[in-house]
Amino acid sequence: MALQVELIPTGEIIRVVHPHRPCKLTLGSDGVRVTMESALTARDRVGVQDFVLLENFTSEASFIENLRRRFRENLIYTYIGPVLVSVNPYRDLQIYSRQHMERYRGVSFYEVPPHLFAVADTVYRALRTERRDQAVMISGESGAGKTEATKRLLQFYAETCPAPERGGAVRDRLLQSNPVLEAFGNAKTLRNDNSSRFGKYMDVQFDFKGAPVGGHILSYLLEKSRVVHQNHGERNFHVFYQLLEGGEEETLRRLGLERNPQSYLYLVKGQCAKVSSINDKSDWKVVRKALTVINFTEDEVEDLLSIVASVLHLGNIHFAADEESNAQVTSENQLKYLTRLLGVDGVTLREALIHRKIIAKGEELLSPLNLEQAAYARDALAKAVYSRTFTWLVGKINRSLASKDAESPSWRSTTVLGLLDIYGFEVFQHNSFEQFCINYCNEKLQQLFIELTLKSEQEEYEAEGIAWEPVQYFNNKIICDLVEEKFKGIISILDEECLRPGEATDLTFLEKLEDTVKHHPHFLTHKLADQRTRKSLGRGEFRLLHYAGEVTYSVTGFLDKNNDLLFRNLKETMCGSKNPIMSRCFDRSELSDKKRPETVATQFKMSLLQLVEILKSKEPAYIRCIKPNDAKQPGRFDEVLIRHQVKYLGLMENLRVRRAGFAYRRKYEAFLQRYKSLCPETWPTWAGRPQDGVAVLVRHLGYKPEEYKMGRTKIFIRFPKTLFATEDALEIRRQSLATKIQATWRGFHWRQKFLRVKRSAICIQSWWRGTLGRRKAAKRKWAAETIRRLIRGFILRHAPRCPENAFFLDHVRTSFLLSLRRQLPQNILDTSWPTPPPALREASDLLQELCMKNMVWKYCRSISPEWKQQLQQKAVASEIFKGKKDNYPQSVPRLFISTRLSTDEISPKVLQALGSEPIQYAVPVVKYDRKGYKPRSRQLLLTPSAVVIVEDAKVKQRIDYTNLTGISVSSLSDSLFVLHVQREDNKQKGDVVLQSDHVIETLTKTALSADRVNNININQGSITFAGGPGRDGTIDFTPGSELLITKAKNGHLAVVAPRLNSR
Ligand SMILES: Nc1ncnc2c1ncn2[C@@H]1O[C@H](COP(=O)(O)OP(=O)(O)OP(=O)(O)O)[C@@H](O)[C@H]1O
Ligand SMILES: [Mg+2]
Repeated sequence: MALQVELIPTGEIIRVVHPHRPCKLTLGSDGVRVTMESALTARDRVGVQDFVLLENFTSEASFIENLRRRFRENLIYTYIGPVLVSVNPYRDLQIYSRQHMERYRGVSFYEVPPHLFAVADTVYRALRTERRDQAVMISGESGAGKTEATKRLLQFYAETCPAPERGGAVRDRLLQSNPVLEAFGNAKTLRNDNSSRFGKYMDVQFDFKGAPVGGHILSYLLEKSRVVHQNHGERNFHVFYQLLEGGEEETLRRLGLERNPQSYLYLVKGQCAKVSSINDKSDWKVVRKALTVINFTEDEVEDLLSIVASVLHLGNIHFAADEESNAQVTSENQLKYLTRLLGVDGVTLREALIHRKIIAKGEELLSPLNLEQAAYARDALAKAVYSRTFTWLVGKINRSLASKDAESPSWRSTTVLGLLDIYGFEVFQHNSFEQFCINYCNEKLQQLFIELTLKSEQEEYEAEGIAWEPVQYFNNKIICDLVEEKFKGIISILDEECLRPGEATDLTFLEKLEDTVKHHPHFLTHKLADQRTRKSLGRGEFRLLHYAGEVTYSVTGFLDKNNDLLFRNLKETMCGSKNPIMSRCFDRSELSDKKRPETVATQFKMSLLQLVEILKSKEPAYIRCIKPNDAKQPGRFDEVLIRHQVKYLGLMENLRVRRAGFAYRRKYEAFLQRYKSLCPETWPTWAGRPQDGVAVLVRHLGYKPEEYKMGRTKIFIRFPKTLFATEDALEIRRQSLATKIQATWRGFHWRQKFLRVKRSAICIQSWWRGTLGRRKAAKRKWAAETIRRLIRGFILRHAPRCPENAFFLDHVRTSFLLSLRRQLPQNILDTSWPTPPPALREASDLLQELCMKNMVWKYCRSISPEWKQQLQQKAVASEIFKGKKDNYPQSVPRLFISTRLSTDEISPKVLQALGSEPIQYAVPVVKYDRKGYKPRSRQLLLTPSAVVIVEDAKVKQRIDYTNLTGISVSSLSDSLFVLHVQREDNKQKGDVVLQSDHVIETLTKTALSADRVNNININQGSITFAGGPGRDGTIDFTPGSELLITKAKNGHLAVVAPRLNSR
């Protein structure tokens, strides 16, 4: 099974890139790409992200191995259940960006890879939803990253929480309080270039909307000895160097300071004023700005700097012994500055520095100090001035962070989130009073941790109805009691030794300790130890068996440090200070108070108890910081050092408690949601209760009864391997599901698209149908109305025009005119014409006439010259014969031919005889003799001037038109005709009787050629003709059945013409 995934620096698998090919894995911010086989291998490679999932949870080696694997991949965060273990990477991993903040907002703690922001967000959400105060406890040894974590948390809240309605500046002040506190409370040590030399507990107040509205800081046990002494390679508090490096010339002059740390004894003890990783100059700028943000006035800043400078001047106060070995101040210049800067009387200060005031029997005695004592008194003053100023500073910051709305109703509903950045267990070669206090503090916090963890664990079991299985753990109450118990505790004994009259020393304290707690199993001294262990203990040492391991303390300085003595006359001098800050730090009431002030250890114990109470009242969250190496180098994993821290942070103990019962627990809903795809019955949805669904699911997965338990709301899984097997199954299942989901999604997507298109189509359709319907209805309405108007108009059609009939009449008119176009006559012979309505009769007639004229005009334009001639001839024929001769109607449809004989058919001789005279018409005819009436075949030719009768090749007769007097023809259907010739012309033989098959045509053409149209006689019965000189002939025409031409007995030519009934 190959799987492609990508890891981000937090170790999260964020992307399955390709399920079927070997895959790439991006690890770490440096972008290392590694090919891996499967998600399981990834787990092998980068370790588990929750130590409770370690198979071998009791093995410190596998614990450290898991840390190492993750560290190698720059995965610096790992859980132990709800506890976050963080390893300092000593490099910027780019994992605190705004995007990272967004990524962790509002997501379930276990759904995302371990991260500080996951804790931050979980805590914040619990604060908002459950409205319970929360506390994040950050512990770890110096340089492990506690302060960094605190700052990141604050940054997270400042950037992701809503802004308060009023007083948005609180957010800035919360953030800006850090550089100021760090300047005054942090220093470069061998372990950490920015080591917090005080414990810090910071409350952030949130209003009911979740906006930060205020804050409060508690500080613990400032390491004031640093003011006067630093180990080799270490520095004093940052502020001194920052002021000298970054302060303006003018400021330094006023303070009487030189820009050189080497000039100040308090700054040169560690011989390392310059540190490459620290830029004092720019840090000073940040601090100066921050002071303004947190409401420092210019005067206050001046007063504060005066104090800082006065500490430096104090360090340079030198003493010389007089002849009585009493100390005398030799540094006049310093004294002068001190007097001015602290606003005290110079003489008083000088005296106070070299004397000690003792009150014996109500009388004040001044006893001179020797050199050593004077130096002690001077240092004590410097420490007191600095530490009290620090306390004042914290108070000042608190005043600036205090919510201005403390009186408003919303204030009462605020919730508090506490951030505890406190020193972890310290075990050095040489451990003193400070380590004792610090380790005691850790002992208390461990006790609280055990109590709260076990309590919450037990509460969860109870709430879930699961039998509580007692957890074997080391209860460190016994050690806490050893330290803090009244009368019998180490602190009580120390106090007693400090307060008792007589010569009390550190060694008498040790003896007293040996006397009182010698039987305690966790206490050991050289004297109490057996032979074997005695060697490892010095005579001035005692050893405590802390929960995290043994620590040997040297008693040297215990009494002094616990007493924290400041001689009375120095106190008095300071009480008279005109520096406003000093006068607040040294209160006169202190002088009149007869009661001895609380010792340092007791004060610390009290504040610790108070802190424990504060923390107990809150829901805890833990961040355990680990330092990977002492060299402050990235990528180096020093196993010995880490094992040491794992031990002293009690992480194995943490894990044991957490794993005592079950390695993994999850709400049914969440479990079912994650793994439901592994069981057909729960996939894709489970309809019943989530609990039943989980029961079905685990049965399907084959969980054995001893592997899990079902609580009321959660499933508890005992072994990590069970969970891993389930995870692996899920990984495989996801591959196939992804394909399926893809397909389903695509189907769904396209179906949605289809449905959308369908819906749109239906919508358009219905809209269109509606439109059509409306149009149709409107049309119908209009039609009905029109019909109604028409009917009404029709009824009243004969009435004079009125509104009722106007439409109808108009309609009839319009429709007549419109329809007329289609009903016009098609040709000039067509006489049809639609009947017009009465009102249009006149117009109709005009139109008809117009139409006819138009047709005629068109017709005339279209006829050809030949056709025109034809028509003209036909018209002449009609004029002559229509209604007069029986065979005229038969001739009408037959076209007149231009000539019936072509020139080929006419003898050339004849043509020659005619000369240039053209032949206009030629037709074969039959000539009847004038005497015997014999028929002879002849040709009749018409020339422009004469009718020529031709017999074969001979011109038989030429009748000039001038001589043609007329033409006679019968009214019957015969085709005979007579050409009457001028009688006076003797050359003429007489009239000519001819017969032509085309008699109408022949005669019409002849009449036209000869211009004898009016000279054609149509005779009834008979025709008389001149048969020659003095002799006339007659032709009788009778109707009969068929044509018969004979010579009658009377000498007439008898023609029987068939009846045609055409007339
Ligand atoms: N998460 C981190 N990412 C990058 N660098 C870090 C981280 N945490 C710590 N460091 C580096 O380690 C240094 C020491 O961290 P920090 O000052 O927080 O330690 P500390 O636990 O507060 O120590 P101390 O107890 O001395 O105050 C920081 O100055 C920073 O350089
Ligand atoms: Mg710190």
